[in-house]
Amino acid sequence: MTRKARLQLFIMAGAIALAGGLMVAAASRAAAPEGPVRYTADGKMEFPADYRTWIYLSTGMDMSYSEGSDDPNMHMFDSVFVNREAYDVFQKTGTWPDKTVMVLEARLATQNGSINKRGHFQAIRMANEVHVKDVARFKDTGGWAFFGFQGEKPAAMIPAKAGCIACHEAHAAVDTTFVQFYPTLLPKAQAMKTLSANYLKDEAARPR
Ligand code: HEC
Repeated sequence: MTRKARLQLFIMAGAIALAGGLMVAAASRAAAPEGPVRYTADGKMEFPADYRTWIYLSTGMDMSYSEGSDDPNMHMFDSVFVNREAYDVFQKTGTWPDKTVMVLEARLATQNGSINKRGHFQAIRMANEVHVKDVARFKDTGGWAFFGFQGEKPAAMIPAKAGCIACHEAHAAVDTTFVQFYPTLLPKAQAMKTLSANYLKDEAARPR
């Protein structure tokens, strides 16, 4: 399923859960200065509520990685953020340190608002996906794991069989992350020669 198709399911099934989740998360979130993310006792990730203050990497619009039948009238933006400590290390080394946290935010794109006549702007948040590196915690999946949030309730780890890891490992440019789509990172990875063999193979085969 494409990300857009998944989000259409979220719209249908998620609205009530989202409203409930917002209230629960607001009540249970305590101030936490240590590290960019925290986990509950049963291994869920707490919603990284301040990710919009992290380093902004990029926004894709209606990106799709498969032939699908997405609703042509629905448009979406995917914006990606990373914690500042990890970004600073990447600028020196061309790759990610332990405890890197990347947050993808999906927002509905809309045309209707204020003085807008053409084009789209970002509207309500539909979901968040998190890609996190914690070498000790996720040693069974290459040091990285994925979490999916609908609303702000703590989210369980997405199982490896869901297919997230397979595509990221097969096509992502650096350490299972899609640096080829993040313009402030790609030149550094090129300079430091940290691009993955799989990505270089894709590039060599890509029609131009
Ligand atoms: C078919 C390939 C593919 C699959 C499957 C896939 N992704 Fe991605 N993912 C991408 C691409 C391409 C990007 C970068 C562009 C974008 O969407 O903004 C990306 C970016 C991300 C990012 C931003 C950080 C990074 O690693 O670059 C997160 C978080 C993410 N995906 C989570 C997920 C989750 C969760 C799943 C499974 C439910 C998943 N992805 C499945 C292709 C894929």
